[in-house]
Amino acid sequence: MNAIIICASTHHGNTRKVADAIAKEYNLEVVDATQVHEKDLSEYDLIGFASGIYGGKFDPNIIKFAKENLPENKKIFYIMTSAMNKIFKNAMGNGIDGKNAEIIGRFTCSGYNTFGPFKLVGGTSKGHPDDEDIKNALEFYKGLIKE
Ligand SMILES: Cc1cc2nc3c(=O)[nH]c(=O)nc-3n(C[C@H](O)[C@H](O)[C@H](O)COP(=O)(O)O)c2cc1C
Repeated sequence: MNAIIICASTHHGNTRKVADAIAKEYNLEVVDATQVHEKDLSEYDLIGFASGIYGGKFDPNIIKFAKENLPENKKIFYIMTSAMNKIFKNAMGNGIDGKNAEIIGRFTCSGYNTFGPFKLVGGTSKGHPDDEDIKNALEFYKGLIKE
């Protein structure tokens, strides 16, 4: 299984922590979509898009990266961290429109949030992703790749 994770994690590095844990355990490459805008993904069997949620969406760099680099007919998965810890169904916007991508899984966990007024109260979900979140993320990935 040749897999890769495309990541944007600009607020506190919350999502990167999850992506890095999976990458370390399963020996994958993580690409920072805020720095790298072009990549040939044709050789990958499985492509993950990982991002914090900002206004209900992935970082615009992730959406643009998918639009410009995701080949057709790929298996993909999403990793998101957010204050609300839910699956944001439209997080990718129109990033994969016309790609015939198969979304084989979505992972969510809480991420430390100091956006706007939350900063005044010391933020929300302090300490997340925590060890339990990381354990869940590794389980999630294991489930994705089992035959
Ligand atoms: C500009 C901004 C907008 C955000 N919008 C949302 C949101 O719409 N829903 C939500 O649940 N969390 C929201 N959050 C919280 C982040 O999704 C959360 O802190 C996430 O873990 C950040 O991930 P990162 O550290 O990988 O960037 C927002 C945070 C910022 C900075």
